[in-house]
Amino acid sequence: MATISEQDLEAQLAELSTQERFAPPSEFREHALLSDPKVYEEANADWQGWWATQAASLRWFEPWQTVLDDTNPPFYKWFVGGKLNVSDNCLDRHVEAGNGARVAFHWRGEEGETRDVTYEDLLRDTQRMANGLKSLGIGKGDVVGIYLPMIPEVAVAMLACARIGAVHNVVFGGFSAESVRERMEFSEARALITVDGAARKGRVAPVKANVDAVMSDLASLEHIIVVRSKGTECEMRDGRDIWYHDLVVDADTECPPEPMDAEDPLFVLYTSGSTAKPKGILHTTGGYLTGAATTHRYVFDLKPESDVYWCSADVGWITGHSYIIYGPLANGATSIMYEGAPDYPHKGIWWEIAAHYKATIFYTAPTAIRACMKWGAEHVLAHDLSSLRLLGTVGEPINPKAWLWYHKVVGSERCPIVDTWWQTETGAMMITPLPGITETKPGSATQPFPGISAKVVDERTGEPIENGQGLLVLDRPWPSMLRTLYRDDDRFVETYWKQYGPRTYLVGDAARVDKDGYFWVIGRIDDVVNVSGHRLSTAEVESAIVAHESVSEAAVIGQHDEDTGQAICAFVTLQGSTEGTEALIEGIRNTVAERIGKFARPKRIIWADDLPKTRSGKIMRRLLRDIAEGRALGDVTTLRDPTVMAALQDKIAAERADDEG
Ligand code: PRX
Repeated sequence: MATISEQDLEAQLAELSTQERFAPPSEFREHALLSDPKVYEEANADWQGWWATQAASLRWFEPWQTVLDDTNPPFYKWFVGGKLNVSDNCLDRHVEAGNGARVAFHWRGEEGETRDVTYEDLLRDTQRMANGLKSLGIGKGDVVGIYLPMIPEVAVAMLACARIGAVHNVVFGGFSAESVRERMEFSEARALITVDGAARKGRVAPVKANVDAVMSDLASLEHIIVVRSKGTECEMRDGRDIWYHDLVVDADTECPPEPMDAEDPLFVLYTSGSTAKPKGILHTTGGYLTGAATTHRYVFDLKPESDVYWCSADVGWITGHSYIIYGPLANGATSIMYEGAPDYPHKGIWWEIAAHYKATIFYTAPTAIRACMKWGAEHVLAHDLSSLRLLGTVGEPINPKAWLWYHKVVGSERCPIVDTWWQTETGAMMITPLPGITETKPGSATQPFPGISAKVVDERTGEPIENGQGLLVLDRPWPSMLRTLYRDDDRFVETYWKQYGPRTYLVGDAARVDKDGYFWVIGRIDDVVNVSGHRLSTAEVESAIVAHESVSEAAVIGQHDEDTGQAICAFVTLQGSTEGTEALIEGIRNTVAERIGKFARPKRIIWADDLPKTRSGKIMRRLLRDIAEGRALGDVTTLRDPTVMAALQDKIAAERADDEG
């Protein structure tokens, strides 16, 4: 493809930005799985029937008796009485249909290593791993932690758990070992599957050694299974640690899938909420797989025989669970899996890989698109991306400029963009275009998926707002909804179902609905910060910061950031002194990296003599946000000591003068 000068590109983007709507190209619509808008009416008229039809495309060992049991809201049950196995649906079904030789994952390592894993390979390895887990005494209902990089074994580990009914608890590789420990402790995991080392931009992180440093006294963790990936040296503790290859060497290649109840847990995935303690989102078997597979098929218009699909997320997030593992495999897709960063060994690596495998569908986060914009269009345009036919985004609101750039530079104005809004809790996409039907507007996730009902309501009354801003709610159950917070039903009810009753799910996002009924998600309403599409709780970061020996108190806010959407800004009071040094800033950032992970490190630290608090001692983050963003202060009359704000304002003004000077 030809290169383009920056000026020409700017001019073309400016021209495009005058266009309000983008209709699906007729060529795309003609071949789309869904192209008739009637699907929305039909699904709405009988939404339970719509979901039952979708569920019926999976393989069930025993049929369900009731589609939805809503007699005890918000504890909904879907496909009651039905029995199935997720790994059977993701693997055996395709192999039996004669598609065993189809590639499930074109894996690509950071240094250019490649591995093609077929459905047959995955089925064999999953069964051996499942038998290996069984030989350790792991079975139905046991929790198994998974802390692995983006290597095919992560799919094997998840599917092996699903095969025997063990509940996996995957932790994103960017989280620190300390976070892994916490998640293993909360879920009382009996085993952890991890790796010797993981590739990080030309270096190798000693993952197992890091795990060892924090995990030694966790009594509930009986086994650590270690995949040898990079050959990194590590200790193996007798009686607890075993190499993956030793575990499976003599394992039988046959392990019949455990028939699971539709409502049996499939996995728990920890995510951030308003408090420092992460929430264990629990997903079950039948409804979750129905939601993941249906949305993956229709939102990506997936043709398993011809598409090469690539979701650039990490498997440790819900996006990876639903749209790298379960959705694509249930649909028999061929995917690309890449263990590496988008800028290593060079800034065009994603596009080189996409061109090499002739990717047809690409799904990523707005923050990644903004990074690519910054690096320059030439890194994209150097590669032949004519195979691409559909693009997607997820994780945070996409600014129209990034949307247009994605459309123009990556999609050559040929590929519809699906901006998909959803959450760890929803399990699958909720508000999203259907690429053969929906006219998109840059920055809007458009409309609820067929069968889903979303509203924007007035915060105080809970009444729907037809055209304007309020809180986003989902007012109809859906199959892939979270069933509870792991071992914490009370917090589940309190967090999501208290404000407007047990039939209205409170999302936690503010949103606007426009005159055409299009949804525009604005951002979180709780103390959750979205950094590069990674969800973090302010309380979680605060508690990591105060773990530093010199810190006495901290208040964290999310601040608008051009690159990462939001960035962490921390107001810190020190013990003794009031002003910290550069070394202390580094020290605090390191403490956060150790406690949570590098991605949670504060971008900005502001030293404060005191923090603005109400008379009852609650930190007023709203005022801190005003101050950090340089806005006029809101109401300060409820403060215990209003002079605190004046001092902070002086400090920010001085900081700004320094920057400008
Ligand atoms: O604020 C919304 C934002 O990400 C939150 C969910 O985060 P998490 O559970 O980590 O799941 C991310 C991947 C599904 C939401 O509450 N969010 C996600 N997608 C979008 C979005 N905000 C705007 N537009 C989106 N497409």
